[in-house]
Amino acid sequence: MEQIKAEFIQALAAATTLEALEQVRVDFLSRKGSITTFSKSADFSKMTPEEKRGFGQRLNELKNFATTSLEEAKTKLSASAPRQRKIALDLTAPGKGGRVGALHPITMAQLELEDVFQGMGFSVLYGPEVESEYFCFEALNIPHDHPARDMQDTFWLKNQLILRTHTSANQVRTLKRFGAPIRAIFPGRCFRYESIDPSHENTFYQCEGLVVDKDVSVANLIAVMRLILSQVFKREVKVRLRPGYFPFVEPGFELDLNCLLCGGKGCSTCGDGWIELIPCGLIHPEVLRHGGIDPKEYSGFAFGVGLTRLAMMKYGITDIRYLNKGDLRVNEQFATFF
Ligand code: PHE
Repeated sequence: MEQIKAEFIQALAAATTLEALEQVRVDFLSRKGSITTFSKSADFSKMTPEEKRGFGQRLNELKNFATTSLEEAKTKLSASAPRQRKIALDLTAPGKGGRVGALHPITMAQLELEDVFQGMGFSVLYGPEVESEYFCFEALNIPHDHPARDMQDTFWLKNQLILRTHTSANQVRTLKRFGAPIRAIFPGRCFRYESIDPSHENTFYQCEGLVVDKDVSVANLIAVMRLILSQVFKREVKVRLRPGYFPFVEPGFELDLNCLLCGGKGCSTCGDGWIELIPCGLIHPEVLRHGGIDPKEYSGFAFGVGLTRLAMMKYGITDIRYLNKGDLRVNEQFATFF
């Protein structure tokens, strides 16, 4: 019996997998295993009752020892099994595939607009989002007590600077710096204290444009707007021009786009079938003067494309709130990879 025990211990030590352990169990404890066979081979007729009892006891001890040792070995192996599996490297398994970043729909619309304008000889310039009251309002013919200030309620910082309410803040900055003649656009983020709905957000994007030269007229303005929109939408679009009031242009217009989401029938995004897309006009002489330009010598036009609205029209996005949400399920639908 001692010999069987020794053999068992040796076999157990050699078994390093669950399959090998099972084999040890079969070899020693199954019906044909050596412990069972040994117990059957004992000749009880030659034993005294004392000896029989002793034999039975030692046999049980051996069985118990074998069973418990096997169980323990099995538990130990199972605990370390997952680690073994991880180490195994299958080079043929398909990879996990990372998520690839892409441009935001507004950025895509901006880049496209920049491209089209650059093709027409415009420079692309960027101004600060935190602005002075002077460039955002005063230089644009909107003094402190002017009622037009109400149209653009804004966020005031503690240092008397503001978050710009429109990219028009770049007009006088640029005229002061570069003088005339000039052709430039200024895309960027603007902020207003707005009540939010499907087409209004407190954070949105505009693309301002400015042309100052000799003998610039409304005809030039309309021609440029038409060309730009047909290039951006890659088809003929319906627009309408109606008078609009902005203190920094004279005359001033609202250029509306026939809603591409509902085909002009009227929907929750546009209301009556038209989207106010490009407010514009001829630059007010007072603004030119603030920029150090003589209005008798030069004239010009300015426009402010609603970049966020343009992106909504272009990509069929019905609610402005989707754009700032950071919800990848929305953004991924417009992803193109560069
Ligand atoms: N800055 C104006 C706005 O945000 C739009 C505008 C730009 C109007 C240029 C006329 C000329 O409402």
